[in-house]
Amino acid sequence: MAGRIVILGVFVADTAYRAARQPRMGETILGRSFALGPGGKGSNQAVAAARAGGDAHIVTKLGRDTFAEMALATWREAGVTPAVTQDAGSYTGAAFIFVDEASGDNAIIVAPGAAGTLTPADVEAQAALLEGAAVFVTQLEQPMPAAIRALEIARAAGVRTILNPAPAAPLEDATLALCDMVTPNESEAEALTGIAVETLEDAARAADALIARGAGAAVITLGARGVLVHDRSRSVQLPAFEVGPVVETTGAGDAFTGAFSTALAEGRDLVEAARFGCAAASISVTRPGAAASMPTRAEIDALLGQS
Ligand code: RIB
Ligand code: NA
Repeated sequence: MAGRIVILGVFVADTAYRAARQPRMGETILGRSFALGPGGKGSNQAVAAARAGGDAHIVTKLGRDTFAEMALATWREAGVTPAVTQDAGSYTGAAFIFVDEASGDNAIIVAPGAAGTLTPADVEAQAALLEGAAVFVTQLEQPMPAAIRALEIARAAGVRTILNPAPAAPLEDATLALCDMVTPNESEAEALTGIAVETLEDAARAADALIARGAGAAVITLGARGVLVHDRSRSVQLPAFEVGPVVETTGAGDAFTGAFSTALAEGRDLVEAARFGCAAASISVTRPGAAASMPTRAEIDALLGQS
């Protein structure tokens, strides 16, 4: 039976504006369209994990407002179990997302709101949930001390730990040493290692540097080029799947990390789990939105030819 996946992270409401370009300071431009939908890296990963068939639980904080209701409805529909506190004195966060109408690429400002006040004590209150997990996942949208405390609790209980180091932030070697796997994209890998990741060889060198600093394995997401799975014994590139035109890449990394976690919780090996994650991410970019674009298990299996 597949084990529990516990995700510490942030939910925000994504406000996505499609436009030809970003405005300059002091300038107003007309956008093509607007969409409001569920986002936040931790929540996106939990939704991706659950839709991919995993028993996903999210640990976070919300306000007590309209966006909190969006969060709870999103998790209910996706089958994510919330371990959530609500702070009426704060607010549920939001993200400003510029989507380039030609490429589908984005630029984001995220304000985490109540989840930005998550503390080590909040995490300790969920220790039993974490300790019973097969896989623990976090990112860097909530405060670092909360992420570190959760990694410590999971590691001490023998739970496999995944850190998606996004958005990029400086990490101590001691923090990397708590991670069985890290899943940066190219720019996050560069921020962590100082190695500009342009070629596959660059990605392999960055992965080695992350492992030298303490991570167990590095799985670097390379956008349209798929992912590089790199540990002490192997370095395997898995190409992205060609599914259809790219509509919006927001949340593609989250689709990967979420579905990857589901496959690991089912006992698949690193490379097979990464292939599963790649399939999920490849489908997600053909659809608008972040959490809303996460594929179902049936869709992923069909793409992988396993249905
Ligand atoms: O990874 C994509 C997510 O980053 C978006 O949903 C946005 O909310 C930001 O947190
Ligand atoms: Na998408």
